[in-house]
Amino acid sequence: MRKKIIIGNWKMNYTITEAEDFVSSIKDKINVDFVDVVICPNFVSLYNISNILEGTNIKLGAQNVSWEDKGAYTGETSAPMLVSSFVDYCIIGHSERRTIFNETDEIVNKKAKKLLENNIKPIICVGETLEERESNKMYDVISNELSNSIDGISKEDMERNILIAYEPIWAIGTGKTASAEDANKMCSFIRSKIEEKYGSKIAQSIRILYGGSVKPTNAKEILDMEDIDGALVGGASLKNDFVAIVNY
Ligand code: PGA
Repeated sequence: MRKKIIIGNWKMNYTITEAEDFVSSIKDKINVDFVDVVICPNFVSLYNISNILEGTNIKLGAQNVSWEDKGAYTGETSAPMLVSSFVDYCIIGHSERRTIFNETDEIVNKKAKKLLENNIKPIICVGETLEERESNKMYDVISNELSNSIDGISKEDMERNILIAYEPIWAIGTGKTASAEDANKMCSFIRSKIEEKYGSKIAQSIRILYGGSVKPTNAKEILDMEDIDGALVGGASLKNDFVAIVNY
């Protein structure tokens, strides 16, 4: 039985004090008995938020990482630095990083491997554009993104450490959600691709999430789907809505 997981992706929102105030206000309202919960603030808030989360079961995640350990990479943040901020998870390959910052599957793959070396769980995002969906190319797009991003990752890591988030780009921040059935269909397609490569035991244990305009009003129907093991929540994770989504 796969445990559901709800991940809040704050993107570039909240200063350190705003972040501290928000997490302090919600942390005792979140019930982590039946789900895993991860909050992903901006880099500069990570360490402070780790102090606030100490003693809770809410985990900390980052939104990006460098594929290098250290050195002359101005503006980058390494996996060992994330470890020193008590980070357990890291989002990679988000569509905003792919489109605005030119992140390729190859880069996502290098970042995934670097995170695994440092015992941080990668949350690998994949998703199609509206044009790709309307021209029925979405299965090819997702299949390619997935296989390139997980290339060379061991069975053990696939089983225990990797998470996949299916985020149709047209549903991110737009208020448009994929229907629960369509989201489930894509998540089960992703599971079948993992089964082809790694076998059914691993395909049945890996957690596959849906993301894109998840809110309290649609969380239940999405999370009740058989192949959807959780949600990657953007806008709604900045508000009390996040508590409602986790506790539903
Ligand atoms: P959204 O963002 O919930 O605001 O649509 C989701 C995401 O980008 O991860």
